Amino acid sequence: MSRKIIIDTDPGQDDAVAILLALGSPELEVLGITAVAGNVPLALTHVNVRKTCELAGRPDVPVFAGAIRPLVRELVTAEYVHGKTGLDGPGLPEPSMPLQEQYAVDFVVETLMAEPEKTVTLCVLGPLTNIALAMIREPQIIPRIAEIVLMGGGCFEGGNTTPAAEFNIYVDPHAAKTVFGAGVPITMFPLDVTHKALTTRARVQRFRDLGTRVGTATAELLDFYERFDEAKYGTDGGPLHDPNVIAWLLKPELYEGRHINVEIEAASELTMGMTVADWWGVTDRPKNAFFVRDLDADGFYNLLLERIGTL
Ligand code: BDR
Ligand code: CA
Repeated sequence: MSRKIIIDTDPGQDDAVAILLALGSPELEVLGITAVAGNVPLALTHVNVRKTCELAGRPDVPVFAGAIRPLVRELVTAEYVHGKTGLDGPGLPEPSMPLQEQYAVDFVVETLMAEPEKTVTLCVLGPLTNIALAMIREPQIIPRIAEIVLMGGGCFEGGNTTPAAEFNIYVDPHAAKTVFGAGVPITMFPLDVTHKALTTRARVQRFRDLGTRVGTATAELLDFYERFDEAKYGTDGGPLHDPNVIAWLLKPELYEGRHINVEIEAASELTMGMTVADWWGVTDRPKNAFFVRDLDADGFYNLLLERIGTL
């Protein structure tokens, strides 16, 4: 039986690779993909989701547009990482598949209320705005969510947007606070693990060697995206963040982590968006997240290659 998921995302090259991984995996039933403002404004992220679905040969996947800005703060974007379109690199054609008319937040609420309790997993690859808005709009969805698996935060690695904060949490810390405080089981992929999933030259070449349109486009996405991070971190390749969320659903044995308490800082300007992770259990605050810290990077890339190779 396949697992039902909703992907909430702000593509972003790494988001696009995560979507390809999900669409190449028969164990997952993608009920819909909801776009949020993040790496680039909403007007581009929902287009990028549809470009990616069409690349995967899946124009049938319903795609929805959600929040145009974070709950409280002004939108901060990351064109300096992802390029002007958010999906620079492969030059994918403008999509012809439609954008659904329904608001993404309403789609999330409606789906969770209609599907049997605890059967839908939310995979969140961008700021948590849409998910927080859905929880605020209809709190009855909260106990119905099977699990939230998200990319965000950092502890031992520090931040990538400020010294203290990772991009997704920094962009909408108030939404993150709402979600982390909701009592839903959360699995989080912070920078501590994604920084170990490097897009080395040899790994990117293997996508090119697939000799397929999707393989080549994946290599081009990764090539563009790693340029910025390679220079920043001085590594062979950059961290591949978002596909870990999907890979976890397929092969959890690739990862190691701990159940801990994670609180979100949303008051201090200096540490805004910091994920305060109690890795050592020095407080008695409730454990609200499974914090993933390690992965089998080669196993992760083998999985990506295998699944993207089927598209
Ligand atoms: C996260 O921010 C975005 O730039 C990436 O898509 C990823 O979701 C990494 O901090
Ligand atoms: Ca993202």
